[in-house]
Amino acid sequence: MAGIKAFVDSCNGTLDSVPDRYMMPNGAADVSRYAVLPIVDVASKSFERDLVDACAKYGMFQLKNHGIHTEDVMRCALEFFNSPSEDKMRYYTEEIFTPVRYCTSMMPSKEEKLEWHDHLQMWLKEESLGAHPWPAFPASYRDVGSEYARNIFKLGKRMLLVMSEGLGLRTSRLLEAFEDMVLLTRANFYPACPNPRQALGMEGHTDSGGLTFVLQDGVGGLQLKQGEDWYNVRPLEGMLVVNMGDQLEVRLSNGRYKSILHRVMVNSKSSRLSVGAFLGPSLDAEISPIPELVSQESPAKYRSRTYRDYMHEVYTEHFSGKNVYVA
Ligand code: OGA
Ligand code: NI
Repeated sequence: MAGIKAFVDSCNGTLDSVPDRYMMPNGAADVSRYAVLPIVDVASKSFERDLVDACAKYGMFQLKNHGIHTEDVMRCALEFFNSPSEDKMRYYTEEIFTPVRYCTSMMPSKEEKLEWHDHLQMWLKEESLGAHPWPAFPASYRDVGSEYARNIFKLGKRMLLVMSEGLGLRTSRLLEAFEDMVLLTRANFYPACPNPRQALGMEGHTDSGGLTFVLQDGVGGLQLKQGEDWYNVRPLEGMLVVNMGDQLEVRLSNGRYKSILHRVMVNSKSSRLSVGAFLGPSLDAEISPIPELVSQESPAKYRSRTYRDYMHEVYTEHFSGKNVYVA
């Protein structure tokens, strides 16, 4: 299982139907609606107010003037995916906690149906970016990836301080709950697909981490669910799509900040690239609703678990068709 890109490439443009293994039972209907999402400007005077508002009311928004060098990161990721399959396969593993994981779909050996993407996933710690086993190609990955991660840590911490106050908590409260933060980065490559109604780039999910930052190219395909309907998230050049993940929002805030259900459609004309960064607590941090946010009127909705156990459950439960995030 060398991944979907290698398969599509090997067909040399003759692939005209979706292989059975990728046929999703309820394929995705074409959606032409666009989500109305706030644009939060980090350089604006009203940044703090706008951020809290966007987190509480929308759970997903576009971030501008964020200071991340988006082009470098996208270029490195694309060069990695465009490298020979045998080179990429050196990093192939289904193990979710390996520092560098190249894989396809979620856990292909366990999945009946596969998602139409390959990905490169890395677990990063702020204090050891230099020592991280970065992919050997492209050669610039180490420098570009380290700088990108450093900037995401910086931006994320600044946002968490504001978001903590937005919940009426001490400024540093969320950061403290995260303990020693980890950043999971995940570059996703979605090849062009002969029948985008039958396959899915990524099935509907909420992100398991705390705060998600997604860089997407101009192709489009990311969608979020509001009520019963799916809406496209418009790709806006240079902006980061930010959304709330399960740890921070659903668990720590006891439901006050919502973790947003989203998915990715594929496209018949073009491949698509995205790079997600998921800022989360230390894998060993015990995550439960912050006591100040729990009261008789608002009892704890979630039981305590470490981020590591939670991730494990998400993967296992995924295969049994349950959604753990409400439990
Ligand atoms: C993810 C994700 C969105 C995208 O990696 O969890 O939702 O646009 N990615 O690729
Ligand atoms: Ni996601």
